[in-house]
Amino acid sequence: MKIGVLTSGGDCPGLNAVLRGIVRKSNEYNYPIIGILNGWKGIFEEDYMVLGNKEVSGILNRGGTIIGTSRFSPFEQKDGAKILMQKINKADFDAVICIGGEGSMHVAQFAYETGVNCIGIPKTIDNDIYGTDYTFGFDTAVNIATDAIDRLHTTAESHHRVMLLEVMGRNAGWIAVYAGIAGGADVIMIPETNLKIDEIVDVIKTRYTRGKLFSIVVVAEGAKIHEDDLKLIDPENKRQVKKDDFGRERLGGICHYLAEEIESRSGFDTRTTILGYVQRGGMPTAFDRILGTRFGVYAVDMVKEKKFGRMCAIVSNEIVDITLKKAISKLKVVDPEIYKVAQVFFK
Ligand code: F6P
Repeated sequence: MKIGVLTSGGDCPGLNAVLRGIVRKSNEYNYPIIGILNGWKGIFEEDYMVLGNKEVSGILNRGGTIIGTSRFSPFEQKDGAKILMQKINKADFDAVICIGGEGSMHVAQFAYETGVNCIGIPKTIDNDIYGTDYTFGFDTAVNIATDAIDRLHTTAESHHRVMLLEVMGRNAGWIAVYAGIAGGADVIMIPETNLKIDEIVDVIKTRYTRGKLFSIVVVAEGAKIHEDDLKLIDPENKRQVKKDDFGRERLGGICHYLAEEIESRSGFDTRTTILGYVQRGGMPTAFDRILGTRFGVYAVDMVKEKKFGRMCAIVSNEIVDITLKKAISKLKVVDPEIYKVAQVFFK
């Protein structure tokens, strides 16, 4: 079995652990592993590298991906499906392992329907892929965001300020909720809830009456502004929407608007920190290295057993596999029970 492996979509810590797991497990079956460079684009450009023990040595703790990534969909290209199959046949891949997020799992399913023996491995710091309890990268991002909250606490307290921390989370606020609970946030705003700015201001004012002269508000970048607040935004100030290569809105910056509103409505000095790509870069945590390794090892057995059109997942700490179709059927949004735990501290 000749296996092509690619990393697609935004990078995240733990990708290299997966690649190492795939290569080392494939030794048992003598399967050659070919790294497809820069996501699905690498197949179109026939950009490959052999991945052997030497290539994956020393990468377990390295962030990013040694084979590069992109948000490229073959199916957005002219004659994409036909070219994809031609190139796969030319490269003689018996199977393709796609390590990616939700958008990339859609592409993997299309590829499978087109005739590619495709297997998915779920990755994203957003932790929003359905059917798996966790995606690798999420734990690292939560730890980085928690560290940021800890640091913001001391300066917020010294200056009696409201500190807004914007974290990633396009459609689901997992990072915001987990880091917010771990870091002791006073309010957490996520895409799944629809908080009004006045509700946030109320929490800040209530804290003030208790002698707490500072507040920490954690905001997921994909949080929605409540329609009552939206009405107040001057159309001149409405953000121009830019798109990424998967056609999704480029996010980031919601906190600039929120900070202005919170400051003017509460009268408290308010500052913003946008954590951005720091959350995605650098060393994976031990949890993400272990999860990535387990996924990589398991995926090679999926190839051996010809479990194509499926994605590996972790459920109750066991590695299992589900159909790609099921994985892309919906998004895994924040569990309301976990958000309720966070809400206990919104006062
Ligand atoms: O999909 C993961 C993610 O981290 C999102 O939370 C974020 O919106 C997006 O990537 C930004 O990535 P890029 O700027 O690389 O498109």
